[in-house]
Amino acid sequence: MDLGLADRTYVVTGGSSGVGLATVRALLDEGARVATCGRDAGRLTRIGAHERLFTGVCDVRDADAVRDFVAASADALGGRIDGLVNNAGQSRMKRLDETTADDWRDELDLKFAGVLHPLHAARPYLRAADAAAIVNVNAVLAKQPEPRLITTSAARAGILNLSKSLAVELAADGIRVNSVCLGLIDTGQWTRRHAASGSDRSYEEWQAELAADRGVALGRLGRAEEVAYAILALLAPRASYITGTSIDVCGGVGRGIL
Ligand SMILES: NC(=O)c1ccc[n+]([C@@H]2O[C@H](COP(=O)([O-])OP(=O)(O)OC[C@H]3O[C@@H](n4cnc5c(N)ncnc54)[C@H](OP(=O)(O)O)[C@@H]3O)[C@@H](O)[C@H]2O)c1
Repeated sequence: MDLGLADRTYVVTGGSSGVGLATVRALLDEGARVATCGRDAGRLTRIGAHERLFTGVCDVRDADAVRDFVAASADALGGRIDGLVNNAGQSRMKRLDETTADDWRDELDLKFAGVLHPLHAARPYLRAADAAAIVNVNAVLAKQPEPRLITTSAARAGILNLSKSLAVELAADGIRVNSVCLGLIDTGQWTRRHAASGSDRSYEEWQAELAADRGVALGRLGRAEEVAYAILALLAPRASYITGTSIDVCGGVGRGIL
């Protein structure tokens, strides 16, 4: 099936690694034009050059930098933006008693800025597009909090709630807003944790134990490409009646009904 993404322009934040990188590659494979950003210029070069790709160094917490990046993206890629994937970020592995006031502020700032700054910057372009869509990359933690990720769980719940409000608010502009809620996906986040754990088990053994410990029904971590597939499905103009909802991409770790 042709997803109808070709010749459209998409902005994906945090495209130098993991889920963002897989999404950038999948969109390019579909013939779309893609802009992406990250904080580290060196990591962005890993994507490789492509005539339909624009990259920029920017931190999603910096509203001015995001506005400049989004405007430069539209200038470089046909003067339009058809969709936005708010993906940049990371989680904070801390329990209540390890969490400082700065941790709370920083986590809420990253999660909310990561959605609101790109949205405000891209909104004029999205309003002008004929099939505009936003996908917020979230986590099953939003619906199933984990005390070991206390700030991230709370911030994720807030973002899921915000996504609902945005779906209603932006419907009049013809902009759909949906979320993907991730379980454990094999990306830089987990290779970094394996390295930091000091474990003498191989990454593969460590991952299998992690999946069993967290009760992942499919018994393994997900692949970034498996998330990208769901993101593209929600971005696609054919998904024109889908807004205000979320898809869990979690291998069955989510036990909630909603
Ligand atoms: N992997 C999982 O198991 C999992 C589970 C639930 C939710 N998620 C969420 O899914 C998203 C992608 O995660 P991932 O696992 O693919 O992570 P990743 O491999 O660590 O990639 C994160 C990407 O975001 C960029 N980034 C991080 N902070 C940024 C900032 N402040 N401004 C701009 N770019 C920033 C990184 O580049 P720079 O470091 O160069 O900035 C990188 O390109 C994140 O929001 C994460 O919290 C992941």
